[in-house]
Amino acid sequence: MNPHGCPYAPQTYASANSATPTRIAIKIIRFVYDPVKYRQDFSNYWRIGSLKKLTERLKNKLSINQKGVYCIPRLAGKSAIVTGSGRGIGRAIALELAREGADVAVVDLVVENAASVAKEIQAMGRRSLAVQLDVTRFAEVKEVFAKIISAFGKVDILVNNAGWDKLEPFVESTEETWDKIIAINYRGMLNCTRVILDHMIARQYGKIVSISSDAGRVGSTGEAVYSSCNGAVIAFSKTLAREMARYKINVNVVCPGPTEKPLFAELFRGREKLLAAMVKAIPWGRLAKSEDIAPAVAFLASDGAGYITGQTLSVSGGLTMA
Ligand SMILES: NC(=O)c1ccc[n+]([C@@H]2O[C@H](COP(=O)([O-])OP(=O)(O)OC[C@H]3O[C@@H](n4cnc5c(N)ncnc54)[C@H](O)[C@@H]3O)[C@@H](O)[C@H]2O)c1
Repeated sequence: MNPHGCPYAPQTYASANSATPTRIAIKIIRFVYDPVKYRQDFSNYWRIGSLKKLTERLKNKLSINQKGVYCIPRLAGKSAIVTGSGRGIGRAIALELAREGADVAVVDLVVENAASVAKEIQAMGRRSLAVQLDVTRFAEVKEVFAKIISAFGKVDILVNNAGWDKLEPFVESTEETWDKIIAINYRGMLNCTRVILDHMIARQYGKIVSISSDAGRVGSTGEAVYSSCNGAVIAFSKTLAREMARYKINVNVVCPGPTEKPLFAELFRGREKLLAAMVKAIPWGRLAKSEDIAPAVAFLASDGAGYITGQTLSVSGGLTMA
């Protein structure tokens, strides 16, 4: 027993310095006995503890990119609406924007798909809403966007992605098919853009990225009306970019090349030769994946692309270089 009344202090201090279970036990006992005097025993653990906390806090501020590498998120604090993001390219875009730090409203005709993407985004620690919306209905777009703006407090980014197509020669296509393609691929983009502009103009800030198609730049056999809608999306975006520059709203277009999707094989059933010829014509030697398209959209939605507007970016493995 020493003069302080503690059986292990201070003469056992040196032997308690390394970390065997007995020595740790000794440290704990004498720390409990006199925490002020023996706090230095644990200062290293406290330092390690605060280092761990710091790392955790840092990790929360960083995002993990598609390759699993930590990086500084470019869209931290931003909120976005991505239409048609329940699956395919739209889903990949919604996930990429979230990885880059944005809160994302997942908007789709099929709400079950939207809900599952929203869950994936929430698991990343971002806010996300799953909302059912038919982009062809202007009044519905107005109502839904108002709800999203009120839930997020603001919307910085709109990605017009919802689309639909039926592959067939023009002379075999019906008026009903034309109307459906025009309503979703062109009118839907007009509706969503028009509604979000009031909000973006008031804030003097906004990024609009519309997903068109290389078919809209160079044409595509079996997709005459779809190609013309995508050409219209490009021409509209260039004009809007000019009109909106004074409000500091960027308007750009991303054109995916042929991109793998669940129904892709079905779409080309009976036209396997056409599909094979298409792949052969792609310098990169393969079809695009949805994940190939999304980073280009995230870049154009970021402040790093603040001086880029009215542009059309093909993401097609070099298929289109126009
Ligand atoms: N896949 C390709 O090869 C390819 C190539 C070039 C461009 N694109 C364009 O990329 C976009 C996404 O295509 P994808 O291949 O992922 O298609 P996809 O069919 O896999 O996904 C489209 C999504 O849009 C939704 N949608 C359809 N109509 C809607 C409506 N009225 N309102 C709201 N949501 C609606 C669907 O439910 C679906 O979730 C489309 O604009 C398409 O034109 C695709």
